[in-house]
Formats: sequence, C-alpha cells, structure tokens
Amino acid sequence: MSESNNNHPDRRTFLQVAGAVVGASVSGITSAAGQGTPAAASQSAGASFAAPPIPEVKIGFVGVGGQGGSHVKNMLGVPGVKITAVCDIAEDRVKLIQKWVVEAGHKEPVGFSRGPRDFERLCETADVDLVFNSTPWEWHVPVCVAAMKNGKHAATEVPAAMTLDDCWQLVESAEKYRKHCVMMENCNYGRSEMMVFNMVRQGLFGEILHAEGGYLHDLRSIKFANQGEGLWRREWAKKVNGNLYPTHGLGPVANCMDINRGDRFEYLVSMSGPSRGLQSWAKDHFPADAPQRAEKYVLGDVNVSLIRTARGRTIYVSHDTNLPRPYSRINMVQGTKGIFQGYPDRVYIEGQSPEHQWEEAKTYLARYDHPLWAELTKRAEGAGHGGMDYIEDYRLIKCLREGLPTDMNVYDAAALSAVVHLSERSNAKKSSAIDFPDFTRGRWQSTPALAVVHA
Ligand SMILES: NC(=O)c1ccc[n+]([C@@H]2O[C@H](COP(=O)([O-])OP(=O)(O)OC[C@H]3O[C@@H](n4cnc5c(N)ncnc54)[C@H](O)[C@@H]3O)[C@@H](O)[C@H]2O)c1
Repeated sequence: MSESNNNHPDRRTFLQVAGAVVGASVSGITSAAGQGTPAAASQSAGASFAAPPIPEVKIGFVGVGGQGGSHVKNMLGVPGVKITAVCDIAEDRVKLIQKWVVEAGHKEPVGFSRGPRDFERLCETADVDLVFNSTPWEWHVPVCVAAMKNGKHAATEVPAAMTLDDCWQLVESAEKYRKHCVMMENCNYGRSEMMVFNMVRQGLFGEILHAEGGYLHDLRSIKFANQGEGLWRREWAKKVNGNLYPTHGLGPVANCMDINRGDRFEYLVSMSGPSRGLQSWAKDHFPADAPQRAEKYVLGDVNVSLIRTARGRTIYVSHDTNLPRPYSRINMVQGTKGIFQGYPDRVYIEGQSPEHQWEEAKTYLARYDHPLWAELTKRAEGAGHGGMDYIEDYRLIKCLREGLPTDMNVYDAAALSAVVHLSERSNAKKSSAIDFPDFTRGRWQSTPALAVVHA
C-alpha cells in the first residue's frame, strides 16, 4: 500500500480540471511528433509546451556565484544570446559579471543588488526573455514564479523545488502564464550519459527495465567553507532527512526510461542511515568551542530510495555527501539485451561483448557518441563539468530561439525534484511507499519520447 501524498486533494482536483481546460485551449501546447518540430508546425493537445521563437534571447541572471558565474561564461559563447541584467545579493558578484560581459564586447547588463528580493525588481523592470536562476535552493521557486508572473521564461538550477507544494507552484505558474520553467540538469548532457541515451534509442540494451543513479560526492569541506555553498548548503542538513539532491543521478536515466513521455514515477520507498559525517568533520577541523561543533544535523549520511514506475520498472537513487569517498553518479541502465554501468564506464551487450565480461565503454564512443557532442566538442572545451554545462546551455537557447519544446519541461522539473520531499516523508514513516503526484495530469501517456537531436 502506498500513502497518498496529496496534501490538498480538493484543491488539486480542481486544478487538474482547470489545468486540463487551460491546456486544451492553449495554442502553445504542441505535439512534438516532434522534438525538433517548430511550434507553428505541430499543434495538438497532450504534448510538450513550446513558446513562440525568440531570435535573440535576452537573459537576466539571478544568483551568480560558482554555478551562476559558470553559466554566464557559457552564455557569452552561445550564439543568439544577450545578457541584459544580473542580480545577486553580493554586489561584488554583480560588478564582476558586468565586467565580464563588457570585456566580451557587449553592453553592460543592468545590475540588481538591493537585497534578497531584488530579483522581483529585475523580473518586473528588466528587458529580459529568460530569467536564469542559480541561487541557493530556498530561492529557486520564488525566483522562477516571479519570472513567469512577469512574462519571462524561467531556467533554474537543481533541484527546482524542495517540497511538493513548491513543485506544484512551478507547474501551476508555467501553465497559468504559459512560460517555460526548465530545470537545468546538466548531467543529462554528460558525454557518457548522452551516449547511453543514444544507445538506448538504437535498441542496444533492449527494453530498459532498471536503472541506478545518485549523487555521491564528499562535500564536507564545501559545506563548512566560509563562502559559496558553505553559506547555505549545510543548513539543509539540519532540517531535512532524505535525498536532498536527486536530480543529477535521476535526470539521465529518467530520459532513458521515457519518464513523463510514456512512463512516469509512480511511488518510492526511502531509507536514511545515521548522521555522523558532518559532526566528525567538525570535530577534526574546529576547536572545541567553535559553533560548528555544536550544530545538530538530521540528514542521514547515506540515503537510498527506490522508485517504481507506472510500467513497473525500477530505479535506485542515492544521496551520499557527508562521508569520505571518490565521486560517483553511478549511472547504470539495464535492459533485456544488455547493461551500461558508469564509474568507470562499462558496457555489456549480449551477443556482442565477450560472455559475462565488461567491455570499456570508450570502445563504443566512435559509433554511438551523441551528435550534440560530436558536433559541439570544440565549443564545449573548458566549460563547466567537463563541457556538459555548455551543451546544456546551448541546447536551451536553441530551443528558445527556434520555438521548440525544451528537453526538460516543468513536469520533469517537478517529478525529479519531488524526490526530495517524498524521500523525506517515506523515511520518516519507516520507509512506507509514497505516491508521486502525476504533475502531467495524464499527459505522460501521450507526450512523445525525446529524440536524439543535432546541434
Ligand atoms: N548543476 C550543477 O552541476 C551544479 C553545481 C553547483 C551548484 N549547482 C546549483 O546551483 C545553485 C547555486 O549553487 P552555487 O554552487 O553557485 O552556490 P553559490 O553559493 O556559489 O552561489 C549562490 C549565489 O546566489 C546568491 N544569492 C543568494 N541568495 C540570493 C537572492 N535571494 N537573490 C540573488 N542572489 C542570491 C549568492 O550571493 C551567491 O552568489 C544551487 O541550486 C546548486 O544546487 C548546480
């Protein structure tokens, strides 16, 4: 038995009906028969949202620390982009970004740094088509909603939202204001992940039945730093015990399993172990009277969750950021004919690989490299996270410029991010099964699968 996650059934039922009516009457909802079909050319209810083309995309950045700054650098090299506004509570970051843009030969973007809600002034007054949000997690939803409310598309760093209500707020705003709300899951654009997607599409693994992913990254020193994520990320370990950061591991395998495009997450069970890593790190690095030594954490160092999909398939997803360990996102996809396993990347295809033995995945790259990577490798060189962040930003802008459905839409943002809250609730209830809401309201059954696209 699974517990219903619906906090406000009446409100949601009403919204489902209202949403269906709105959806049916919105000309921007297009059939993506598909991906790559311009909005004007394919319009029927029950598929991906596309907005009218924007030949030159004017961007306002909100939150330009480590990751936001990296997106700014990428966007300076993406064709058809103009950076017109920048907002951060840290004025020196705003000034730095303004300098970068001017040094790249463009007009200085308008700066906003009058406090934590100054993004509202940006959304209300700046000449932007897209608000690009790389703030700490607690600000993702307020910034995206302000953007859409003011007629701008929103792109946000991950996770898009930390609670179910906030997931719904994004969905409802995107539908109401008819704007994109894209979660920038860069791992979907990793070279290995895209090669696997290409191999899945070409049927190498047969029918996909199981996948595994996670975020396994020793963040202890980052969480205790006096700058950047140290200023906000550790706070979440004091209040939430679940999978705080599910989307890097889940995004790529969700695409391979056609989540929201033929299948959907139906329910999950989740379990967290003890909380030791941060306490132990603080003890080793701070004097006895340091406030960090007195902090109390609820986040279990390792959280494991299992998702079952509507078609009965299974996904393992884990979160592990407080213990000493090498980096991994697991990245495993398994089907009736073979398996890909990441870290290190390996392949086994029945009938092709030596029996019962892994092959190195790089031997498959020449044949199955994703066209986006094959075509953009030079331009992506040096960009964040091995270049995948450039491919991600390039692809978002291409979709906006050509009026295509974006690769990730608001339903993906909600479904992937919902794992944060659902894992917390399942863990708190002795790992009971908790249902995912169907954010698509049934449209997962008719939305076409993502295709292998070119640059
Ligand atoms: N996709 C990835 O690989 C990846 C990597 C790192 C971080 N991230 C995500 O990016 C986001 C930012 O992380 P980061 O590492 O850049 O953190 P960071 O702390 O370096 O940057 C956050 C920035 O937001 C600013 N900020 C805080 N509150 C604000 C507000 N109300 N209005 C405007 N600006 C505000 C801060 O001053 C800071 O400059 C997070 O959601 C994180 O999960 C993603």
